[in-house]
Amino acid sequence: MSVGSGPQEDAARLRKEINAHNHRYYVLDAPSVSDAEYDVLMQRLIALETQHPSLRTPDSPTQRVGAAPSIEFQQVTHRVPMLSLNNGFSEADISAFDQRVRDALKVASVTYSAEPKFDGLAVSLQYRDGVFVSGATRGDGTTGEDVTANLRTVRSIPLALPHTSQTRDIDVRGEVLIRHADFEALNQAQQQAGLKTFVNPRNAAAGSLRQLDSAMTATRRLHFFAYGLGFSGELSFQTQSEVLDWLQSMGFAIAPQRAKVEGLSGLMDYFQSMAAQRTQLPFDIDGVVYKVDSLRAQETLGFVSRAPRFALAHKFPAEEAFTQVLDIEVQVGRTGALTPVARLQPVFVGGVTVTNATLHNQQELDRKDVRIGDTVVVRRAGDVIPEVVRVVTHLRPESTTRFALPSTCPVCASPVFRAEDEAVTRCSGGWRCVAQCKQALIHFVSRHAMHVDGLGDKLIDQLVDRQLVRSAADLYALDRTTLVGLDRMAEKSADNILASLEASKSTTLARFLFALGIRNTGEATARDLARHFGSLDALMHASIEQLMSVRDVGPVVAQSIHAFFADPTNQQVVAQLRARGVHWVEQSPALIQPERPVASFAITGTLPTLSRDAARAIIEAAGHRVVGSVSSRTQFVLAGADAGSKLERAHSLGIPVISEELLSATLARLNDPTQTSATSI
Ligand code: IVH
Repeated sequence: MSVGSGPQEDAARLRKEINAHNHRYYVLDAPSVSDAEYDVLMQRLIALETQHPSLRTPDSPTQRVGAAPSIEFQQVTHRVPMLSLNNGFSEADISAFDQRVRDALKVASVTYSAEPKFDGLAVSLQYRDGVFVSGATRGDGTTGEDVTANLRTVRSIPLALPHTSQTRDIDVRGEVLIRHADFEALNQAQQQAGLKTFVNPRNAAAGSLRQLDSAMTATRRLHFFAYGLGFSGELSFQTQSEVLDWLQSMGFAIAPQRAKVEGLSGLMDYFQSMAAQRTQLPFDIDGVVYKVDSLRAQETLGFVSRAPRFALAHKFPAEEAFTQVLDIEVQVGRTGALTPVARLQPVFVGGVTVTNATLHNQQELDRKDVRIGDTVVVRRAGDVIPEVVRVVTHLRPESTTRFALPSTCPVCASPVFRAEDEAVTRCSGGWRCVAQCKQALIHFVSRHAMHVDGLGDKLIDQLVDRQLVRSAADLYALDRTTLVGLDRMAEKSADNILASLEASKSTTLARFLFALGIRNTGEATARDLARHFGSLDALMHASIEQLMSVRDVGPVVAQSIHAFFADPTNQQVVAQLRARGVHWVEQSPALIQPERPVASFAITGTLPTLSRDAARAIIEAAGHRVVGSVSSRTQFVLAGADAGSKLERAHSLGIPVISEELLSATLARLNDPTQTSATSI
């Protein structure tokens, strides 16, 4: 479409003006226009872009409202890994760090950039030609999740940088968090709407950033602080402080508390001052970070495994509190493990209310000698699960006794056992134990296993307690009347569950194996097993030696798999599941090419005969992936009637679009070893 110069210039001017207001409001905390005036500008820009859709650029402030909900996040590989920091807690730790740095650099004193350690979520933002193009979570440091649409809604993330030739291609690193005032407001709104409140700002930020519906993220007032560069392209700086100055000049929010300090005494003074300010800051921090300021020195120091030698996180001590042990309960987990759990007098510590804490196993219990009625010290730091640190023995009431795990399962009364080399005590009941059965079912229906929607924990409790379901296979025998007869079950929900169960029958061998909940067999192992053996029968009949020839399968894992399939109850459940229609495409191992690349498909619109789940299952059964949004890394878009923006995006990126009719031919070609190019269709 050709656009006259008038609207284009108007749009550019409006964008610039709105961006400037955004920066003053969200980054500098110093608004210069009223909300009403701001709204007028925004409405004008929206009107212009509606009239002339080609003016709707990705960096337009109108694009912060959120995109259409996606099915899942796409994985992205960081081009510069997102590493972690080593931690220090005491002055001795900090002194040793400073000493190591001085020794390595052969200098008497070192200048550091000292910064708050934000308690949020690390993200990496990619800018191309000064425009924000994609953003991802840290993930495992190598690959994270593409949360671009959500990050676009964060007002303190500039969608475009002031024009300079050096911003051709850079990654900005920093932390997404939610400030206290916004956190309070969010929780109030959640409460008023009858929704779940968040326990602390970090969880609220994490939940908001990982929303599949970015329109929801847009309502959450997330904030971004930049603290460095990943990929730095053509930029060159002398010091970390200069990097921060530059980021600030590009419109990013930088912690005003950062400082340039000298030597160990400078570090310790900074730590004390931040510890004193901590409760007054508008956001949570869990410590401070020291970085050698000179970038050349950073280079000299380099990295050890996954952390830089030139930086250290000086963490605040984990918060501790006193409380009372009201009871010690024994829980039975999915694999039968008996876990003693202390029920505590609720106490607020480390940002959450703690009501119970695991005591792990008999050995741990013996070591700490925690008894019912004891006063204990509990501790919680950051993301870490709360723990009982120690008993305050002088406050112990009279006539308490040591706690011992029972000799029979508290749930099913089967005998318990403890393997020689294990600390864990287990119930021998297997599926016959109601507790194990419930946990196994919860796992079986979970997203990465059979992915059945609508079967939550409460429902599974009811199904098992009423003896309607005793194994995974029983789920596929449920009917409408039974489901509708359950507490709080509407007819519509029952239908949805049945439809989802039906859809889940068409699965992949890898998912099925993972769903079975075999001990020591996670998703990755399940995938490797499926690829290696190709069919379930081959796997079920494999010897321990044959199992051990699978990548990453050692004697322990091989033994678990072998024992699982040797158990007649398990064999029966597997046979019933198959008899009730659970199926996947089996492959003969010889045809499987482990190095075959996995293609990404996006699905859009209504397909003529297949549901989306069914199409997904077919694609996954062929060893490929279905992604929620279209990006340059998507290989195919499977489109049906009334396809929307994904189709447009596919066209603009030149991605092949296929119809349902072409799906099986496409998959066959992809999986045909004689085909070389995956996108040659
Ligand atoms: S620099 C090479 N600076 O801490 C590592 N990280 O343990 C570069 N964090 O996930 C990280 N505040 O998200 C750096 N001022 C700060 C930080 C900071 C918080 C987080 C970061 C990372 C974790 C590392």
